[in-house]
Amino acid sequence: MRLDELKVVVTGGAQGMGRHFAKRLAESGASVVAADVKDDALASLADECKALPGKLFVRKLDVSVEQQCVDAVAWAHEAMGGLNGLINNAGILRDGLLVKLDRQTGQVKKLPRDHWDAVIAVNLTGATMMVREVVAKMVQANLRPGVIVNISSIARHGNRGQSNYVAAKTAMAQNTVTWAREFAPFGIRVGAVAPGMVETPMTAGMNQKARDALVAAIPVGRIGLPEDLWLAVRFVIECDYFNGRCIDVDGGLSM
Ligand SMILES: NC(=O)c1ccc[n+]([C@@H]2O[C@H](COP(=O)([O-])OP(=O)(O)OC[C@H]3O[C@@H](n4cnc5c(N)ncnc54)[C@H](O)[C@@H]3O)[C@@H](O)[C@H]2O)c1
Repeated sequence: MRLDELKVVVTGGAQGMGRHFAKRLAESGASVVAADVKDDALASLADECKALPGKLFVRKLDVSVEQQCVDAVAWAHEAMGGLNGLINNAGILRDGLLVKLDRQTGQVKKLPRDHWDAVIAVNLTGATMMVREVVAKMVQANLRPGVIVNISSIARHGNRGQSNYVAAKTAMAQNTVTWAREFAPFGIRVGAVAPGMVETPMTAGMNQKARDALVAAIPVGRIGLPEDLWLAVRFVIECDYFNGRCIDVDGGLSM
């Protein structure tokens, strides 16, 4: 699909990679609804994008609330005069080992149930509701072709301290296959992009020692930038022969 024909919702569009994707899309002439829980950051994004060739709208949205997904997608369809894409990017972390032993005290700590639930609610259930709503709207309005890009993670290969996140990101990568099969009759492709470590507010808090160790393990020798991921998202959108697969963009970290 051509970028300038796209009418697309970007979840988590207020900061980090989602903000970068929303800007690049608006620069390319696409119509974009950037949706996020952070309305201040959305307002500044709208300001920054005023002069760009595409149209950028912003909408407050918590993807973990089903009715908000329903309403936001209907609103986006109305605002853009159609809908043919979703960049399913909103995500959170609540890292922790499932079971942790403090060797000094002998104390065993368990991953709090609410840390599990929060990540599943946003990264899996919310992301799935967004796919459901966007595709339902496209099918009802007979809008085709269309494209969905799920933002997974290389954590899908398994990662210590992230069982909640791994569960959600693996499911999103695998359901990319399920949905590519289910939505093919509607002319909708589904692809996934799995970032490695990327410089965004999500990773800004990492301590220097851990960061240095990680960079040493990345074959290309650096942490990723949102632009590295944009190139992959753009490929999924533009290549009409790409469908049902997940691309790892991690500098070789997971190979
Ligand atoms: N940064 C990385 O290293 C990395 C690596 C692998 C995968 N990812 C994934 O990439 C995506 C973007 O990550 P990022 O690094 O830009 O993160 P980020 O924290 O910088 O941005 C995430 C955005 O999602 C929004 N968001 C969170 N919960 C939401 C909700 N319930 N409803 C709507 N919006 C919500 C946040 O407000 C924020 O604007 C996420 O899905 C993340 O899991 C990131």
